[in-house]
Amino acid sequence: MAGVPTGVSAGAHPSPNIWWHPRTYELENRAVDPGGVIEAAIRRVRDWAGVDVLDVGCGTGFHLPRLAVDAASVVGVEPHPGLLAAAGRRVAGLPHCELRQGSAQALPVADRSVDLVQARWAYFFGPGCEPGIREVRRVLRRGGAFVVIDNDPTRSTFGRWFRRAQPAYDAVAVERFWARQGFTREALDIRWSFERRADLKAVVRIELPPDVADAVLAEHVGTDVDYAVNLWWWRAGLSVAPPSVRVHGEGTAAIHTGLPLR
Ligand SMILES: C[S@@+](CC[C@H](N)C(=O)[O-])C[C@H]1O[C@@H](n2cnc3c(N)ncnc32)[C@H](O)[C@@H]1O
Repeated sequence: MAGVPTGVSAGAHPSPNIWWHPRTYELENRAVDPGGVIEAAIRRVRDWAGVDVLDVGCGTGFHLPRLAVDAASVVGVEPHPGLLAAAGRRVAGLPHCELRQGSAQALPVADRSVDLVQARWAYFFGPGCEPGIREVRRVLRRGGAFVVIDNDPTRSTFGRWFRRAQPAYDAVAVERFWARQGFTREALDIRWSFERRADLKAVVRIELPPDVADAVLAEHVGTDVDYAVNLWWWRAGLSVAPPSVRVHGEGTAAIHTGLPLR
């Protein structure tokens, strides 16, 4: 199952979970963040009602219908042709919703044509992704915003699992990278909430190596997992904000500032 599927655009970062297991990834997307913490946080940065939105690395387009409810227009960009086709089936009939094949490093989008760019669970945005960030800056209008949602391995049950799977992951280096690029971090507390234990098990097995998956499933009971994520955000045309961290979650709200991460 290794390698890159046929027809994937140049520059795509391997994404084995959704590339090889799109049905299980759909279960994961349905279980993520039942409290809507991520959506509320993105809307605080740049509400998408009435504006033009771009979802980079949209996968099977899970988030597109939600964006399309009140955005003026939604474009999904995805390098994997099979996933793009699935996204097309999902949004068929939705007005103002369009899909284009491509990668973050060469966005098939006109200069200064969008107001909000989102990338969710986008491993292609992190240290070394400067070409993609330049592209996003090119397509954003003044006052527009770029938001990236990614794992925060420094906190939560899922964060502990992630660290076991990827002990070399350097969260401090990741935070320094985003701060140097002028991004602000908002730390969010969300959770996975599955209907069935079998779904949780299937998702854990596409997200973690087999030995780590076996170990965490043996320890963890139930169908819910607390899960910390980072929302990295940047506004076009605003001065660079100092590094800061805000924590929001279901039932919690606290302010933290400064580096380094715990
Ligand atoms: C973990 S999936 C997340 C999909 C979607 N954002 C979601 O939340 O359901 C990461 C996605 O990024 C895409 N991807 C990988 N490298 C990319 C790149 N360089 N530019 C744009 N998308 C990329 C993958 O094909 C995959 O669909």
